[in-house]
Amino acid sequence: MTRKILLTGPVLAHDAMSHAASLDIQIIPTTPYLPADELLAVIRDEQPDAIIVRQGKLSREMIEASSRLKAIAKHGVGYDTIDIQAAADSGIPVTIALGANAQSVAEHAFALMFSVARQTAAQDARMRAGHWDKSTANGIELFGKTLGLVGLGSIGGILMDLVTPLQMKVKVYDPYLKTLPERSHVERETDFNRLIESSDIISLHCPLTDQNRHLIGADQFNRMRPNSILINTARGELVDTQALVHALQTRRIAGAGLDTFNPEPPPADSELWGLSNLVATPHVGANTTEARDRVGLLAVQQIVKIWNNEALDPRCIVNRQLLGN
Ligand SMILES: NC(=O)c1ccc[n+]([C@@H]2O[C@H](COP(=O)([O-])OP(=O)(O)OC[C@H]3O[C@@H](n4cnc5c(N)ncnc54)[C@H](O)[C@@H]3O)[C@@H](O)[C@H]2O)c1
Repeated sequence: MTRKILLTGPVLAHDAMSHAASLDIQIIPTTPYLPADELLAVIRDEQPDAIIVRQGKLSREMIEASSRLKAIAKHGVGYDTIDIQAAADSGIPVTIALGANAQSVAEHAFALMFSVARQTAAQDARMRAGHWDKSTANGIELFGKTLGLVGLGSIGGILMDLVTPLQMKVKVYDPYLKTLPERSHVERETDFNRLIESSDIISLHCPLTDQNRHLIGADQFNRMRPNSILINTARGELVDTQALVHALQTRRIAGAGLDTFNPEPPPADSELWGLSNLVATPHVGANTTEARDRVGLLAVQQIVKIWNNEALDPRCIVNRQLLGN
C-alpha cells in the first residue's frame, strides 16, 4: 500500500521527491501557512503516515487527526512550531534535519553582519531612489572585532570558523556545550551579561525554549557596546521587538540584521520598517539549493527509518525523552 507523507508547504527538492517516488511514497504538498482549521481538515481527509513540517504550526489536534501517523519530521531544525509533547503522547517521534542547513544559515548570518556594518541594503534603496550618498555614508569594519555567539551548535560552530580570516575574536555563551572546540581565537563566556557587554557583534544561534523568550530585551540593549550589531537568524521570540526598535531608533546600538521575527511576517505598520539601520530578510537563512536538497532528503530518510523501526541518530529525535527513550 502506498504510504503518504503530508507536507506543510510546497513540494520537496528534486532528490527528496525522487527518493520518495522510488519507495512508492506519495508526497502531499499543501499551501504554506494554511489556516489551522484548513490544515486540520486536510490531515483528517488524507490520514497521512507521516508529516513533514515546513511552514506554519502543527498542533495537538492536527497530530491526533491522523490515526495512521507514525512520524513527524521538521524540514529544518527549529521545532518550536510542533507540539512535541502531543506527538510523544501519541508515541510519535519528531525529527529535525540536524546540521543539514547549518552552512547556509551560518553564511546568511555572516552576510547580514557585512550588510549591517556597511549599510548595503539602505544604500541600495537610496541609490534606487536617485541618491548618491558617497560623501555621507560611513561603515564599520568587522576585522579584529569580537563576535559573541549565543549557542555553539551546528550553525554557531560553522560561523565561528567563517570569521577566522577577519581575525575576529569569538566568545561563546552556551550553557549546554560540553566541550569548546580548540581554536586560538575562541573562548568561552559563562556569564551572559558579560558576553553582551564585551561583544561588538552578537549573533543568536540557540533554539527558542520556554526559558529564553526575550533573551535580548531592554536591559541587554543597555549593556551592549555603542557601536554593536545584533544578528538574529535563530528565532524572533528571542528578542523583545519593542526594545530592539527603541535601541535602533535611539542609535543605542549601530544596527541589527534579522532573518527571524515575532510575529512572522511582521505587520505592514511595524516600526521596524522605519529603521534604516535594520537589514531584514524573510526567514530565508536556509533557503539555498544545497540546503533544500540535504534537508528534504534527510526528512524523507528519517521518516522511512522510523516506519522500518531502524535506529536514528538520537540527537535528531527532539522528543526522545518525552517518549521515554
Ligand atoms: N533562519 C533560518 O532559516 C534557520 C534555519 C535553521 C535553524 N534556525 C534556528 O537556529 C537555531 C540553531 O540551529 P542549529 O542547527 O545550530 O542548532 P543546534 O541544536 O545544532 O545548536 C543549538 C545550540 O544552542 C545551545 N543552546 C540551547 N539553549 C541555549 C541557550 N539558552 N543559550 C545559549 N545556547 C543555548 C545548544 O546547547 C546548542 O549547542 C535553531 O534552533 C533554529 O531556531 C534558523
